[in-house]
Amino acid sequence: MIKNQTPLILARNFEREQAIRIPSHERPLFHLTPLVGWMNDPNGFCYYNGQYHLFYQYHPYSTVWGPMHWGHAVTDNLLRWTYEPCALAPDTAADAGGCFSGSAVPMPDGRLMLVYTGVQPAGTFRRETQAQCVAIGDGVNFEKSMLNPVIRHAHLPEGYSALDFRDPKAWLGEDGRYYLVVGNRHEERQGAILLFSSGDGLDWTFECEIDSSRNEYGRMWECPDFFPMDGKQVLIVSPQEMHAREDFHAGYGTVAFIGSWDAKEKRFTRETVQPVDSGLNFYAPQSLVAPDGRRIMIGWMENWETCKEAPRRHPWYAQMSVPREIWLKDGRLMQRPVREIEGMWLDTVIHEDVTVQQETPLPGVQGRLIDLTVKLHPQGSACRRFTLLVAKDANHQVLIRCDLAREELVFDRSRGGSHRDIVHTRHVRARVADGELTLRLLMDKESVELFVNDGECVVTSLIPTPMDADQITFAADAPIRMSVEAHHLGVVG
Ligand code: FRU
Repeated sequence: MIKNQTPLILARNFEREQAIRIPSHERPLFHLTPLVGWMNDPNGFCYYNGQYHLFYQYHPYSTVWGPMHWGHAVTDNLLRWTYEPCALAPDTAADAGGCFSGSAVPMPDGRLMLVYTGVQPAGTFRRETQAQCVAIGDGVNFEKSMLNPVIRHAHLPEGYSALDFRDPKAWLGEDGRYYLVVGNRHEERQGAILLFSSGDGLDWTFECEIDSSRNEYGRMWECPDFFPMDGKQVLIVSPQEMHAREDFHAGYGTVAFIGSWDAKEKRFTRETVQPVDSGLNFYAPQSLVAPDGRRIMIGWMENWETCKEAPRRHPWYAQMSVPREIWLKDGRLMQRPVREIEGMWLDTVIHEDVTVQQETPLPGVQGRLIDLTVKLHPQGSACRRFTLLVAKDANHQVLIRCDLAREELVFDRSRGGSHRDIVHTRHVRARVADGELTLRLLMDKESVELFVNDGECVVTSLIPTPMDADQITFAADAPIRMSVEAHHLGVVG
């Protein structure tokens, strides 16, 4: 290594040189992609010094996963992002095997603290270990603590793993102490989320285990988030190796446990459980509280299974979901795209109370950059199956079919342009509530995010469909009334 060419400086030089070769039209319009190379989990999602910051798992040097760095971007409106230089590179003994996922906490003295997992690679005498590290800075440059790793296996009671110990999500408590939840794998209960606290962010104390898989919801639990909401407490985790059960699909999932938290007794009591997003591409979400009080969540719009097979058509790979406002309704986690999306509405096309049966497009409703809401009114209709086709041309289509009798929705991208024999379909619940079923679809070129009934179920998926497949059609097996509101999306002004 030439003097001063640290891994961080090398990464910053490399990304700067490469990124200027990527024209902005080769990226999605409002979903964040890595500056160059590979991206996975959102990290350090926070509001700091008047802007939203998002860091991400980052391998600048190729479009596949590699030694993990932290990429960085900022935004005023959660949709249009500006890149900052790479924030962390694996360059100390505590994180030589990678700077894995973590979070960011604005400190009372005005600095920003990053808390992340440092991976210590296997050596001659020991296996790889994972431990928690701290880096503090001004929002662009961060200095890693000499005390790293600040939370190690030695902090844990017996039975917990030194190898599967990652993804701290930290916050500053009302009592002025720092808290964090972190994923681990217990030898009996498997995936487990542990709570720690600290007065200064450096000296941490183990508090308790908040919850565990109990062998029911997968093995390792990655990327926890833990927050109060509407009088309840929400624990979100991303389990590996789930079995398909209830509303959950097999493999990498996202689970929300909603319940109560007794901070004094250190006891979390589950009440309800649901998938966070049932799509083909969604994992490792993280949330923040916006200055106006909204809780906003963003996820990695990928899946560890499907990304292996996905084509690499750009010098960047993977993207984040749209940031979503989340709230609870009747004990259920609800989601909608952040309202800032309205600032990207170029127009408004409304078709009020139209009746459809034969497959038909609607004037002014087409495209791959669209915010589309369809309200179905099945009352008094013999209709059992309603079909919405998007990203359609003579050879392609992405199908969204509602079985109104069974209150089930099928999302099917198998004719969406993929050349791979991987999973392309998902089934979710789609209730008719108060005589209405609402589908809101957000499309940004190669992605679809479908919010059923104000996001009581969400299906997020990438579609590798050629961009000129841009028709949208509506069809049903018997006449059904519906209303459609469409907004084409773009940069206004
Ligand atoms: C989740 C995850 C995390 C880990 C990171 C590594 O997608 O596996 O548990 O910190 O990715 O890049």
